[in-house]
Amino acid sequence: MHAARVLIVGLTAVIVVLALALVTITVGRSSTPSAADLAAPVDALAGSDDDCVTCHRLQTPGIVEQYGHSTMAAAGVSCQDCHVVEEGYPGSVPHEGLFVLNQPTTAICQNCHVQEVAQFNQSRHGLPAYVAYAGDEILTAAQTQIYASIPEGGNDPEATRARNALHELEGEAITRFACEACHDIGKPAADGSVGQCSSCHLRHEFSLEQARKPETCNFCHIGPDHPQWEIYQESPHGIYYATGGDKWHWDAEPGTLSAADFPAPTCATCHISGFGSAGTTHDIGDRLTWFLFAPISSRRPAWQDNKVRMQGVCRECHNQNFITEFYAAADAATERVNAWVVESNQTIAPLKEHNLLTPAPFDEPIDFTHFNLWHHWGRTAKFGVWMQGPDYVQWHGAYEILHDMAELREQVRDKLDEAGLETESH
Ligand code: HEC
Ligand code: HEC
Ligand code: HEC
Ligand code: HEC
Ligand code: HEC
Ligand code: HEC
Ligand code: HEC
Ligand code: HEC
Repeated sequence: MHAARVLIVGLTAVIVVLALALVTITVGRSSTPSAADLAAPVDALAGSDDDCVTCHRLQTPGIVEQYGHSTMAAAGVSCQDCHVVEEGYPGSVPHEGLFVLNQPTTAICQNCHVQEVAQFNQSRHGLPAYVAYAGDEILTAAQTQIYASIPEGGNDPEATRARNALHELEGEAITRFACEACHDIGKPAADGSVGQCSSCHLRHEFSLEQARKPETCNFCHIGPDHPQWEIYQESPHGIYYATGGDKWHWDAEPGTLSAADFPAPTCATCHISGFGSAGTTHDIGDRLTWFLFAPISSRRPAWQDNKVRMQGVCRECHNQNFITEFYAAADAATERVNAWVVESNQTIAPLKEHNLLTPAPFDEPIDFTHFNLWHHWGRTAKFGVWMQGPDYVQWHGAYEILHDMAELREQVRDKLDEAGLETESH
């Protein structure tokens, strides 16, 4: 790292000289340079005679160009640091007399970013995301141990089984472009290490601005069952971002962010960034109190501590009374949705009792009605409540729950009638 420091000092000097030159030139033109102009990163690989760099500048110029402008390149991290491994390393291929990984794994990042990888592994972006479609049977012994040690790994087995059923039903030709595309954020690699940092740090820029912008999350956090992106866009926070975000301090030093850098929060501000009294974390469950994705939400382990951390973020911009009141109201709304889902289970119970549902999942309309009620509308209502999206609480949430509940009652009545059984409800 010593050599890297020297390089940083050298580069800083170059940047300062360039910046001064730019100031002189633009002052001459009687216009002031913007902060963005001054901060425009130099190409750290400009004069490089490294083999990978010189050949790949021809073969894959985009990658070299991007990487040259990254903070890591400026800090002296080389192509070899991430790609070159010893012969026989799982997943490696021979390349130009060396052995390389086409997709460097989290084990490689861990050489330098121990804390980020450990936090990621403790989160539902790690193995739980993968198990959600692949099941836990295919984990190795070591992975099973990691999976079991994730405090927030506990989830409702009902929910997981329902989704796995869809995975099997649709088949791999479809799901490799669907479930896998999103849930492989937690897929283990050939060397056994877990997950894909490049889900958020799109190669090869490793830009803080890109990771912090909410669009980064919307590849996955979108659609009828988890419309966090749509909700955010509708929220006052999202509106503030859309209308003024171009002036925010996207490249500010991590760990010390405040409302002076971000006058309204993005997804990353609330869930990841060090902000106010909350420290930076790659464990995205670290600030959550409920398992909102579950059909019937229960409290997370250590939820009181998580709450203190999330409220530490809110506290940068809102007063404690406002936040306390908001949490009490959002808790009550969460419990109201829980009660509706319980009611839907009770509605369908007589069919289960009398064996009037086919054993196969998703093969008759009532399976879909019962599933949509919690999986789409129940979740959406809860997410809308917690992230300030009134239209999602109301018209894409509660209203649809009531609609599906009415449909469910009729479907149950019809099936009981068909079977010649008395309907208790009339
Ligand atoms: C003499 C030229 C040359 C050198 C030197 C070279 N590469 Fe390559 N590399 C290539 C070519 C050509 C490809 C294939 C590009 C393609 O298929 O479009 C490639 C492909 C790759 C791939 C992707 C392989 C895949 O199948 O997706 C990686 C990763 C890679 N190189 C890394 C490196 C690293 C790291 C170094 C330095 C240790 C390096 N290369 C040195 C020419 C070179
Ligand atoms: C900080 C780690 C890191 C460094 C440094 C790095 N890479 Fe990569 N590289 C990755 C990751 C991660 C991927 C896989 C990303 C993906 O597939 O989305 C990758 C993928 C690639 C690929 C395959 C792309 C493809 O489309 O198949 C090539 C080629 C490559 N890198 C070349 C380079 C070269 C050349 C350098 C140096 C200029 C370099 N990388 C530096 C992490 C790194
Ligand atoms: C050889 C050590 C090394 C490896 C391997 C490495 N990094 Fe880095 N990384 C660094 C250094 C050094 C910095 C710069 C720290 C600084 O300037 O504050 C950094 C910074 C970063 C940043 C912050 C960028 C910024 O602008 O502040 C991200 C994101 C990042 N690395 C992701 C990764 C990922 C993902 C991998 C694995 C694919 C990886 N790194 C592998 C050493 C490494
Ligand atoms: C667009 C990306 C995307 C696709 C496609 C997708 N999911 Fe998800 N899935 C997510 C996100 C994001 C969550 C987290 C929701 C939350 O916590 O609010 C999630 C949650 C889940 C959960 C609940 C959490 C758990 O681990 O129990 C299961 C199970 C699940 N998905 C399985 C699947 C299956 C099976 C498929 C394919 C049939 C699929 N998903 C398709 C993004 C996706
Ligand atoms: C869910 C998206 C997401 C994933 C996945 C992710 N990161 Fe990050 N990462 C971020 C965000 C957002 C930031 C900026 C945090 C902030 O605002 O300070 C960041 C920042 C970083 C930094 C700079 C941290 C600092 O304090 O200087 C490093 C290093 C890093 N990530 C490494 C990784 C590694 C390694 C992985 C894979 C194990 C990874 N990230 C996976 C979103 C992600
Ligand atoms: C490549 C897809 C992908 C991207 C990109 C992504 N996520 Fe996720 N995220 C998931 C999946 C899948 C889950 C559900 C995992 C599970 O519970 O099984 C999830 C779950 C979560 C959760 C709930 C965790 C818990 O403990 O229940 C939060 C919060 C979250 N993501 C935040 C973010 C933020 C913020 C970003 C952007 C900076 C982001 N995610 C980017 C796929 C993604
Ligand atoms: C103002 C802060 C804030 C912003 C901005 C924000 N969230 Fe959230 N998010 C929350 C809160 C608060 C909760 C619920 C916390 C709890 O359970 O106590 C939550 C819940 C979630 C969950 C549900 C986890 C579960 O239990 O199923 C996911 C996933 C998520 N957010 C992702 C995102 C994404 C993606 C974005 C951006 C598109 C985003 N959030 C923007 C504060 C925020
Ligand atoms: C970086 C500053 C910032 C942070 C952090 C922040 N907010 Fe906000 N919040 C705003 C702004 C700006 C508005 C919209 C303008 C206004 O209400 O004056 C807003 C509005 C709201 C509103 C809507 C108020 C209304 O009038 O309808 C709620 C609810 C809210 N925030 C809750 C939260 C919660 C909960 C958190 C933490 C999880 C949080 N906010 C974190 C800046 C922030």
